[in-house]
Amino acid sequence: MVIKMTEYEALQKRISVRSFRKLPIPPEIVAELQSCVDECNAFGLHFQLVDGSGAGTPAVKLSPGMFSGEVYTCVLLVGPSDRTGGEMVGYFSEKLILRAVSLGLGTCWVAGTFDKKSVSPDLGVDEKLWGVVPVGYATEKTPVLQRAIRSRIRARDRKLQDFVESDYPFASLPAWVRAGVEAVRLGPSAVNQQPVNIVFRDGLVTARLWKEKKNEMMYNDLGIAKYQFQVAAEALGVRGFWNFGETGEFIPE
Ligand SMILES: Cc1cc2nc3c(=O)[nH]c(=O)nc-3n(C[C@H](O)[C@H](O)[C@H](O)COP(=O)(O)O)c2cc1C
Repeated sequence: MVIKMTEYEALQKRISVRSFRKLPIPPEIVAELQSCVDECNAFGLHFQLVDGSGAGTPAVKLSPGMFSGEVYTCVLLVGPSDRTGGEMVGYFSEKLILRAVSLGLGTCWVAGTFDKKSVSPDLGVDEKLWGVVPVGYATEKTPVLQRAIRSRIRARDRKLQDFVESDYPFASLPAWVRAGVEAVRLGPSAVNQQPVNIVFRDGLVTARLWKEKKNEMMYNDLGIAKYQFQVAAEALGVRGFWNFGETGEFIPE
């Protein structure tokens, strides 16, 4: 059995890993990652798994000021270059990240701090490389530098209640909505900006970018937040799916 925990447990355990052991991933686990990549690509994405585990070749060169160790496996997050594409890339990247965590692996969403020349994505028309997800084994102890990086960025965390826009107090919202909001808070976002709010009005759930000034990566964050919400809602008994787009609703089944 290669899966070590449920997706919701993985969501609660996940953090960005920036220190990796020099340990390649066994083929049966790489195969699990590949099948998750295939599942994502069935929805119009063009994720590409790069694996140098067998030969012991690094899959991507991560910035040494941010990362330590080596990764032999990496997923190139290629998808449509427009905003909806960015949102879809975010949504499915989070599915992939939670799968990796549930396989006992460490990951980080990396849009900027890697050497662009160290990867060769296959890009179709109107596609772009949104980022990379290095995958490997986290060191048992996080080195001081990487610990400091994370606590410095997560120190900007917003309060849980700030993630919801509703006419009702947070405590009175349905348990599955509260769990979804908490999952959004726990999720990754670019520079930990946490730009996504969950809106609960008239019994409907939507997700909104609350910052006035938007950038492209916020659409990745929007997709990530939607996936996180969905996993938590399902764990609390409400299965559903999202419509993409800034006004897209969460539709319980
Ligand atoms: C779209 C996106 C881009 C990111 N780019 C980088 C990056 O270039 N380098 C990096 O070290 N972390 C990057 N991160 C990771 C965030 O810094 C991290 O998710 C955030 O600080 C929250 O910390 P956590 O993931 O440990 O909960 C990125 C995350 C997202 C969602």
